[in-house]
Amino acid sequence: MLTSKKTALSVVLMVSFSHLATSQAPLPAAVYRADFNSSFKLTPSQIQTAQLDNVLVETIENIVNADRSQFAFGGPRQDDFYTIPPLTNTTGPLKPGQLLKVQPFTDPRAYAIPPNTALSRIMYTTTNFNGTVIPTSGFIFWPFIPRNSRKKAPVVVWAHGTSGFFGQQAPSAHRSLWYDHKAPFTLVLAGYAVFAPDYAGLGVSASWDGSPIPHQYHASPATAHDALYGLRAALKAFPDTLGVDFIVMGHSQGGAAAWAVAEALALEPQEFADLSPGYNGAIAASPTTRVFEGLTSYILPSVGQMLHSIFPSFQPTDWLTDLGAAQLQLAREIEGGIGVLTQLMMTGNNTVRQDYNKTWYADAFARLGDAGRKDFKGPLLVLQGDQDPLVWYNVTMKTVEETCKRFPHRDLEVVVAKGVGHTPVLDATRPLWLRWIEDRFDGKPLAGKGGMRTELMSFLPVERYMRTGNSVPLWAGLPEFGYLATLSV
Ligand SMILES: *[C@@H]1O[C@H](CO)[C@@H](O)[C@H](O)[C@H]1NC(C)=O
Ligand SMILES: *[C@@H]1O[C@H](CO)[C@@H](O)[C@H](O)[C@H]1NC(C)=O
Ligand SMILES: *[C@@H]1O[C@H](CO)[C@@H](O)[C@H](O)[C@H]1NC(C)=O
Ligand SMILES: *[C@@H]1O[C@H](CO)[C@@H](O)[C@H](O)[C@H]1NC(C)=O
Ligand SMILES: *[C@@H]1O[C@H](CO)[C@@H](O)[C@H](O)[C@H]1NC(C)=O
Ligand SMILES: *[C@@H]1O[C@H](CO)[C@@H](O)[C@H](O)[C@H]1NC(C)=O
Repeated sequence: MLTSKKTALSVVLMVSFSHLATSQAPLPAAVYRADFNSSFKLTPSQIQTAQLDNVLVETIENIVNADRSQFAFGGPRQDDFYTIPPLTNTTGPLKPGQLLKVQPFTDPRAYAIPPNTALSRIMYTTTNFNGTVIPTSGFIFWPFIPRNSRKKAPVVVWAHGTSGFFGQQAPSAHRSLWYDHKAPFTLVLAGYAVFAPDYAGLGVSASWDGSPIPHQYHASPATAHDALYGLRAALKAFPDTLGVDFIVMGHSQGGAAAWAVAEALALEPQEFADLSPGYNGAIAASPTTRVFEGLTSYILPSVGQMLHSIFPSFQPTDWLTDLGAAQLQLAREIEGGIGVLTQLMMTGNNTVRQDYNKTWYADAFARLGDAGRKDFKGPLLVLQGDQDPLVWYNVTMKTVEETCKRFPHRDLEVVVAKGVGHTPVLDATRPLWLRWIEDRFDGKPLAGKGGMRTELMSFLPVERYMRTGNSVPLWAGLPEFGYLATLSV
């Protein structure tokens, strides 16, 4: 038996080497450029309505074109996967967590993912903040060998941080899955299967009746539902390869989503009775727990773009100036991602209204959308850098303290990484969270019960470290750029 297998292998090898020798002679190397598909231009009327000066015009065009170069299969607008199947194919009333479509094999060559990892995508039903059933999408990222070496891989549900606000910004359509080594690559290479919801409104952007699906940005309970209903659908799609044991982990917007998953499991036990037994814990990195205590010039337009879907009387001009509202409308029209929105809203100082808090919407939304201060199913690990410019250390600590005070019997550990920023907290604390995940799956006891705080100092003096990332994974999938991926052969 063994001998024949060996023979088969050497035949395969011979075939592939001869293939290399004949037809795979390296092509001439072309200068690498990321500006394929860079045909996007703003129209004169868009420029005029949004009052963009020449610098901003060029900036927006550059960002949109760079974002486009990151789309696998041309992005959700061009990729048939994101077309919802007709309702006639489902039987009975729609429930959340129903599987609508499975793409078991997603061609990995369109992505800049590590060798020997694989992708699937699913479309499924979730609910929006107010409970309407809507379609959405997500991906499953497969390890070469699962960590437990069993038939079913342990699952980490990955809740991404902000990619954007409109249909084009689905991580499942992004060449490096939006968060690359910061989390999904790391998790899959450690032997976990990763299920990642895109979040409603990102990817699938209209429902069956054609009505738009807004991305209810920072409505943490809704995003948590996207994660849990997606996990239910993923388990239906891949019952033989996904294990029921899971951990949820997220960062920033997704840190709040992961925290809100822990809350949903405590507060809606009936709704998630099927998933709850497999839950092993949650990791919330740099979680947004008080969204208005931060950069209002960013938060007001990004939450304001969808708030009418929760409070129908809300108008963007309740929070934004006429200029801000016009620039937000432009961002929606061109489906600009986070890079576009921050350029539009944070260049200059005349986009948000100083008196935005005179209306009731901010406080009402904060009460509904913020994670924290509620009961939750532990254990919960919170990771926070004390130099985070976006999600402030003092805000997270306040949420953690108030939550622990209200629920002293729940297990909540906060790890403070000294001298560390917003997304880099994932890199700085990587060995710690990988170990934490491993220990939970292995059923090891927690380091301590109840509320706990750990301070993490760097090994070398902190000023010697790279503070922020300054590179991205490079997709070099065209044959003339293959020379860049030499070590991937
Ligand atoms: C360029 O865009 C087209 C259409 O959106 C898409 O089919 C193609 O894959 C893109 N090319 C590259 C290299 O991504
Ligand atoms: C819907 O059902 C029809 C008929 O059973 C089938 O041919 C089609 O492939 C289905 N479409 C989807 C998207 O599942
Ligand atoms: C959605 O729910 C919120 C909170 O319960 C409520 O205030 C709002 O009126 C609802 N909106 C819609 C569109 O039903
Ligand atoms: C902010 O607004 C003031 C007056 O409204 C203006 O003088 C100033 O140049 C603006 N600053 C920026 C960075 O746009
Ligand atoms: C709005 O103002 C009130 C006090 O008038 C304050 O308590 C509240 O925190 C403010 N809310 C936001 C979102 O800024
Ligand atoms: C929290 O920290 C931020 C930024 O470091 C600061 O601007 C803010 O005033 C602080 N808030 C409180 C309540 O201490």
